[in-house]
Amino acid sequence: NAIVGGVRAAMGYVPGSWLPGGTPDPLIDKRVNLGTQQSRVDGPDKVKGAARFAAEVPMEGLLYAAFVHSTIARGRIAELDIAAAEAADGVALVMTHRNAPKMALPPPIGLTNLKAAGNNILPVMQDAEIRWNGQTVAVVLAETQEQANFAASLVLVRYEVVAARTDFEAGKANARTPDSLMIERNRLKKGDADTAFKTAATVVDAVYRTPWHSHSPMEPHAATIRWDGDRLIVHDATQMLNGTAGSLAKVFDIKETQVFVSSPFVGGGFGGKALWDHQILGAAAAKLAQRPVRLVLSRASMQRLVGGRSQTEQRVALAADRDGSLLALLHHGYSVKPAHSVTDEAFTLTSRSLYAARSFDVVQHAIDLDLLANTFMRAPGEAPGTFAVESAMDELAHELQIDPIELRRRNIGHSDPVSGAPHSQSDLMLAYDLGAKRFGWERRPSTPRSRKEGEWLVGMGCASGSFPYVRMPGMSARITIDGDGRATVASAAHEMGMGTATVQRQHAADRLGLPLDSVTVRIGDTSLPFGSFAGGSSQTASLGAAINAASTKLAGELLRLAGNDTPLAGLRANEIEFADAGLRKIGDPSRHESFASILKRAARSDISVVGESSAPLEVLKFSMHSRSAIFCELRVSEVTGEVRVDRLVGSFDCGRILNPKTAASQFRGGMIMGIGMALTEETLLDERSGRIISASIADYHIPAHLDVPDIDVLWTDIPDPRTPMGARGIGEIGIAGVAAAIANAAFNATGRRIRDLPLTPDKLL
Ligand code: MOS
Repeated sequence: NAIVGGVRAAMGYVPGSWLPGGTPDPLIDKRVNLGTQQSRVDGPDKVKGAARFAAEVPMEGLLYAAFVHSTIARGRIAELDIAAAEAADGVALVMTHRNAPKMALPPPIGLTNLKAAGNNILPVMQDAEIRWNGQTVAVVLAETQEQANFAASLVLVRYEVVAARTDFEAGKANARTPDSLMIERNRLKKGDADTAFKTAATVVDAVYRTPWHSHSPMEPHAATIRWDGDRLIVHDATQMLNGTAGSLAKVFDIKETQVFVSSPFVGGGFGGKALWDHQILGAAAAKLAQRPVRLVLSRASMQRLVGGRSQTEQRVALAADRDGSLLALLHHGYSVKPAHSVTDEAFTLTSRSLYAARSFDVVQHAIDLDLLANTFMRAPGEAPGTFAVESAMDELAHELQIDPIELRRRNIGHSDPVSGAPHSQSDLMLAYDLGAKRFGWERRPSTPRSRKEGEWLVGMGCASGSFPYVRMPGMSARITIDGDGRATVASAAHEMGMGTATVQRQHAADRLGLPLDSVTVRIGDTSLPFGSFAGGSSQTASLGAAINAASTKLAGELLRLAGNDTPLAGLRANEIEFADAGLRKIGDPSRHESFASILKRAARSDISVVGESSAPLEVLKFSMHSRSAIFCELRVSEVTGEVRVDRLVGSFDCGRILNPKTAASQFRGGMIMGIGMALTEETLLDERSGRIISASIADYHIPAHLDVPDIDVLWTDIPDPRTPMGARGIGEIGIAGVAAAIANAAFNATGRRIRDLPLTPDKLL
């Protein structure tokens, strides 16, 4: 597991197993609610419009914010004329570097400090320096959004321009090769790849390109912010509640307990919803104006202020025997990582773990440019990385005239090919076999450009997807049992559309031996026990581990409370289990006492315990990845070059599936994002100025209903014995492999190999 390095750095390595006694989670086999289809607990509120998002929180005396963005990439503000803006109707404040309060640098997101959520580690409006094109040079607050927007258009700025580095190609010369948050040892050399490339029967060697992608969730980045004396209250759209609170405390030099962040619902996050300049600027402006502030980023402001996925250029070379056995796997490449960015695009993750090549030569380079910081975006690294590797595998299959699935079967690793660590659970080939059957893979023409229907060339393709298992330490959950024996689970966890409360309610019910309707889950603000984040597909496992830890404590405390006048008298903690809304002796249902009865006899109204997710030692000993097999059928018009995806099938191997309904939505959503990546999404940059020229969702097209075909999803559903509930992450894997499956199908349809995304008509004509 390539993120092991970060975890090791965060935790220090202690041999052992995360569960007491090293045994698998008993819930893996004992399921009542887990594994069943459950509708989302927040569904009715969302349908009725009763779920309140960050930009909908009512406040007395609200001001609305608009942002003025720099139009140069590097230099200084020479003149700033805000008189007309200040005089405009409804304007309450124009904030610039001249009057902005003093603020510290936002602390960066890291695995060792979960109280930090910063993405763009630069001073925010503290001086006249311009560091990227789009940086905020003024914030206008007005009585209405329209007044703020108009007044922002009246701000006049003149710049002293300094030459900026905005060109990817030119930046390659000074690229660095750092280890990073996601990749422990960047330079990977194993075996003798050089000789293999000289002597192998077959070599494919090509360069693949993926463009810059911008975050485009349905809910734009938004916050409603007010100060209550020296307390800061932020209703945010975030996937890092405690990180945002901790960062804002540092920026404004107050205590973390003075910051309250609330985010019960998020309309899509995908890695982009953490701390950017807008929350800091909003809080600063609210402080100056002494009134609450609402800010809703326009689509243009989102592209200028919220970083996305870096563009990549990746060379993949595969050397193989005549039977397709991989003798060498080379994966080199570049992505952009400005010095003020937190992470680089870890596109070589998959090539370090999936295929058992005999030798490896893998390294990635980071280019420092004067651009907005890049950041995590759904399946960071894996989404562009699998496009390159899985396209190359398809090229090799074609070269050798071997079925693409068969080629993967011959090369799949049965342990980690680099470290030798055993898989905890992995059966990608089963996912391929199940998916191929559902898809009808046997109908794929093995000769490209051999199926034609009118003007349409029809083709089929497949590809693998991968995402590492991540479980964060330090995530906390409180379980409270009340006098009626009902449970409430609370944690500063996040709901960005994936069904957090729904699935953890199923979990807690099974864990505590309660019916589903006896459990309530409270999430979404920093008054609740510490949450890590909704990212890295880690939240379900992290919160699951926290609830498990809390339940162990709860059993001990209840046993103590029960005393001697109980059917449980004399039993030790390891002899009891939760069942029938109480505790009982393992294997002896006659020795049972209910929660309600224990509490009543002890004259207690309730009992509360907090548990915490431990260090994820499992990832130090085992190779743990979610994996997928993606299948695509599509048509390409010979007249226009247009691609129409007709069918997608995703077959997933992600451990046990906890709720088929919410899981299917996660997978489908990821795959739809993969269609955008394959066909249309591309943040366009004018390299002369560093200006993003696609800053709208008209120019940056994400899939609409007409772009989305039938998507069928299925899964192996084999529990992972080393994770809470037997589940690995499913949030990001959906997008991985989709772009390659589509490009491979386009090759099968047309005989044209497109190696740079997106697959726009001009490239296919
Ligand atoms: Mo994900 S890119 O960690 O939200």
